[in-house]
Amino acid sequence: MTLFEVDRLTYSYERLTALDQLTLSIPEGSRAALLGANGSGKSTLLRLLDGLYFGQSGAVRFRGDQLTEDLFAHDDFALEFRREVGLVFQNPDVQLFNPTVFDEVAFSPLQLRWPKAEIRERVDEILDRLRIFHLKDRVPHRLSGGEKKRVALASVLVLDPAVLLLDEPTAALDPRSQSQLIDLLVEWGGGAKSVITATHDLRDLGDIADRCYVLDGGRLVAEAPPEEILRDSELLQRTNLVHAHRHRHASGAMHSHPHSHSDER
Ligand SMILES: Nc1ncnc2c1ncn2[C@@H]1O[C@H](COP(=O)(O)OP(=O)(O)O)[C@@H](O)[C@H]1O
Ligand SMILES: [Mg+2]
Repeated sequence: MTLFEVDRLTYSYERLTALDQLTLSIPEGSRAALLGANGSGKSTLLRLLDGLYFGQSGAVRFRGDQLTEDLFAHDDFALEFRREVGLVFQNPDVQLFNPTVFDEVAFSPLQLRWPKAEIRERVDEILDRLRIFHLKDRVPHRLSGGEKKRVALASVLVLDPAVLLLDEPTAALDPRSQSQLIDLLVEWGGGAKSVITATHDLRDLGDIADRCYVLDGGRLVAEAPPEEILRDSELLQRTNLVHAHRHRHASGAMHSHPHSHSDER
């Protein structure tokens, strides 16, 4: 069954076309990576998949239903969709607005009127899994970038959504937090979930994805398993996911060769 079907989707900000007749299909249960350099349209696409934006032309279908403003005007659909699909934004500042970390993570469960005892239990559990239990009483907007990112993730993971949309989840994290988070995402849901991750980082691609969709200028330019994408250095250079790196050897000779961001750790 198809989870998301994107069909000739065009989305423009004023005069700038961010998604240009984009067509792709993401099966249910996928671990998908949306790969692309800055400005390729990844964040825009996640917002359309999450029903926050709607295209000027073309369609996004979620399990067969075309996502439109009219459909989201039906409370039963909107509520069910928001329960099933969770988006973690690239910039956690747009997601955090509560006075404490606890309140932040408890916010959606409270909206959904879960029993109070269950909320306390689930919030503690997710804070613990994300290793931010000690931040429970802190003010979210005064935390470090990496801490904010984990709080934003916790506030979405607490609902245990079947579909998780992640926008550059490891971007603001130090190397140890990055690998902890990757481990958590790999284990998360025991493979029963769909996880769609936007990234330009090739390092953990094989762990987070079984399928990659490469975007360039708002168009799909490749779709393949991670091993295949990582082997295609011409594609990676053309789409600005790696750059040719000039450097001088001890002998004094200069040369340039493809340089992956993935060995910058
Ligand atoms: N709010 C906005 N207003 C105008 N242009 C935007 C806005 N957000 C993104 N864009 C433009 O849309 C294009 C795609 O951006 P984005 O989806 O953020 O790409 P990515 O997440 O891959 O970096 C870029 O050219 C970007 O400058
Ligand atoms: Mg982005």
